[in-house]
Amino acid sequence: MSTITDQDLEVLYTRQQIAERIAEMGAEITRDLNGEKVVLVGVLKGAAIFLADLARTLQVDATFDFVAVSSYGKGQRSSGAVKLIKDLDEPIEGKNVLIVEDILDTGLTLAYLRKIFLQHRPKTLRIAALLDKPSRRMEKIDADYVGFSIPNLFVIGYGMDYAERYRNLPDICLMAPGHPE
Ligand code: PRP
Repeated sequence: MSTITDQDLEVLYTRQQIAERIAEMGAEITRDLNGEKVVLVGVLKGAAIFLADLARTLQVDATFDFVAVSSYGKGQRSSGAVKLIKDLDEPIEGKNVLIVEDILDTGLTLAYLRKIFLQHRPKTLRIAALLDKPSRRMEKIDADYVGFSIPNLFVIGYGMDYAERYRNLPDICLMAPGHPE
């Protein structure tokens, strides 16, 4: 049975389902880090809420950094034109780095970030994506940790936007076709 929010949006994953899945992801990441420190690198803006919640499930010494990539819109993004518009604040050489993304779609963003981050010689480089749309992939890239694998649906909420709105919805919702925005 689907749930409807107070904004008449269909809920794909409730805040409780999200919290439970993130707790599982956090336990797995904690295990894999084996007591070592980690730098969480959030990709602005969509990943901000996921990073905040994931970070609080990790039982290791963690620091935060953020990057931003150019948002030319999906049309131009699919041409492969990804550009870094906010770089890391701190060096990542020799560190365990976990890139934190809300959604892995075509893979162009993460393939680009992985390439430039590897040039900095981190000790380890892993990816955590809350959502994965494998059917959309244009670049061969997988996340090490995936919250939910979904078909090609337009999702909003929990950090994800439609024209910059809806990022603050606590649940992951579906943007219905013809919704009055
Ligand atoms: C979304 C998402 C990822 C990227 C994934 O960001 O947060 O960064 O798209 O898509 P890809 O796999 O096709 O590259 P968006 O450009 O919507 O910006 P935002 O995070 O500021 O919402």
